[in-house]
Amino acid sequence: MDAFLAKTDPEMAGLIAAETKRRQEGLEMIPSENHTSPAVLEALASILNDKYAEGYPSKRYYGGNTVIDKVEKLAIDRAKKLFGVPHANVQPYSGSPANFAVYLAVCENGDVVMGQNLSDGGHLTHGAKVNASARFFRSVPYHVRQDGYLDMDEVRQLAKEHKPKLIWCGATAYSREIPFEEFGKIADETGAYLVADIAHIAGLVIGGAHKSPAPFVHIITTTTHKTLRGPRGAMIMVTEKGLQKDAELGQKIDKAVFPAGVQGGPHEHQVAAIGVALKEASAPAFKEYAGQIVKNAKALAKELMARGIKIVSDGTDNHLMVLDLTPHGKGLGIFLEEALDMAGITVNKNTVPQESSSPFYPSGVRLGTPAITTRGMKEEEMAQIGEYIAKVFNEIKGCKLPDEKEERIAYLKDSRKKLEENATIKEVRESVRLLCGRYPIP
Ligand SMILES: Cc1ncc(COP(=O)(O)O)c(C=O)c1O
Repeated sequence: MDAFLAKTDPEMAGLIAAETKRRQEGLEMIPSENHTSPAVLEALASILNDKYAEGYPSKRYYGGNTVIDKVEKLAIDRAKKLFGVPHANVQPYSGSPANFAVYLAVCENGDVVMGQNLSDGGHLTHGAKVNASARFFRSVPYHVRQDGYLDMDEVRQLAKEHKPKLIWCGATAYSREIPFEEFGKIADETGAYLVADIAHIAGLVIGGAHKSPAPFVHIITTTTHKTLRGPRGAMIMVTEKGLQKDAELGQKIDKAVFPAGVQGGPHEHQVAAIGVALKEASAPAFKEYAGQIVKNAKALAKELMARGIKIVSDGTDNHLMVLDLTPHGKGLGIFLEEALDMAGITVNKNTVPQESSSPFYPSGVRLGTPAITTRGMKEEEMAQIGEYIAKVFNEIKGCKLPDEKEERIAYLKDSRKKLEENATIKEVRESVRLLCGRYPIP
C-alpha cells in the first residue's frame, strides 16, 4: 500500500512518513490518543471505503450491500456482547455527532440538559456555551468540588431544581471514577434520561479497570479511538434500563443518526475497523493492557507529585491527570505544552477547575498513559518520564504570561526562542528519543 502512495503522491507520502517518525521518536501523552494496531489500520484503508450504504443492515437505500450488511452486523454484535447492552449503533462518524444524535433522539428544542462544566473536565457537547448543545437546549452545568472530585450534592440539587430531560455523565478531563450508580439514582428520582459518555474510558470499562455504566444509565456513547484503541469513530448503545424506560429508544437513536441527524452514508470502512478493534478488545491481553494503563497513570502521578507538581484531585483512578500549574502563576499551560513538545513529549494545555485564565491560555496541562502503555512501557518508565516532565517544568515555571495581547504575543515568541535553545530541554529530548527507541509503536 505504501509503495502506491509514494509513487502517486510522494509529497503526501513524505508527510505521513514524517508523522510516523515523530510518533516513533516521541512520547504521545495526550490522553485521548493511542496507537492503533496494523489490523485496525488495514480495515480502515480497505475497499469498504468505496461503498454507499445509507440505512441499516437489511434496510438500505442502495443496492450491493449484502457484504456490508454482514460487516456492520458483526461490529454491532461485538459491541453488544462486550458492553452487555441490547442495542448498538456503530455508524456515528465521531463522538460529537454521536452526542448530537442523542439529543435529537430524546430532547426537544429548549429542553433543560445537564452536563459537567467545561473547565471542570466536561466535554463541549455536554452543554458548553460555545457548542450547539447550549444553543438548542437550556444547559445547566454541574461542577467539581474544591478537592477536584465531582460534587454529587450539587448534581442532585440542580437536577431536582431544574428537572432536566437529559443528564450527561462522563468527562474529557476528569481523573476520578465516574459514580454511575449515584448518577443513576438522581436520574431515577428526577425522571431524566441518563447518558454515560465513556469516550475516554471505554477501553478501561471493557478491560475491567473502570466500573461499567450499563446497569445504571439509559444510553452509552463512546468514541472508538481513545482507550478503546480503534479507528476514529463512535458508537451509541442503549441499555436494558434504557429499553425499560422507553421501548422505542433503540429505533429513536438509529433514526437520529440517520436520516434525521447530521450524517449521510455510513463510513463502512470505519465500521469494519471498529469491529476489528472490538475483537482485539475482547482478548485477555486487552484486560492486562487496561489494568496497566491505570497502574502507569498512578505511578506517573505519584512521581510528579513527589517532585512538587500539583495534580487536580491529588491523583488519578484512570488513564489521565490534569496538572494544575496555578501555584506558579496563571496561564502557564501553553509554556509547558510547548516546552514538552520540544522535548518530544506530546501533551495538551487544559483548563483547571475554577480557571482564572482563558481557554486559549489555560493554567493546566492534561496528560495520560494509553498510548505509551500500548508501546509496552510500565511503572519503571513512568518514573523516568515523571522525572523528564518535572525537569522541563522547572525550566518554564518562572514564565509570566502578560495580560495585554500584544505584549503576550511578543513574550510567547521570545520564550519559545529561549526554550528552543535550552540545554536541559535538549538533554531531555535525547533521553526521550533513546527511551522511545526501546519501545516501537505497533
Ligand atoms: C468525553 C468526550 N465526548 C465526546 C468527544 C468528542 O469526540 P470527537 O472528537 O470524536 O468528536 C470527546 C473528544 O475528546 C470526549 O472526550
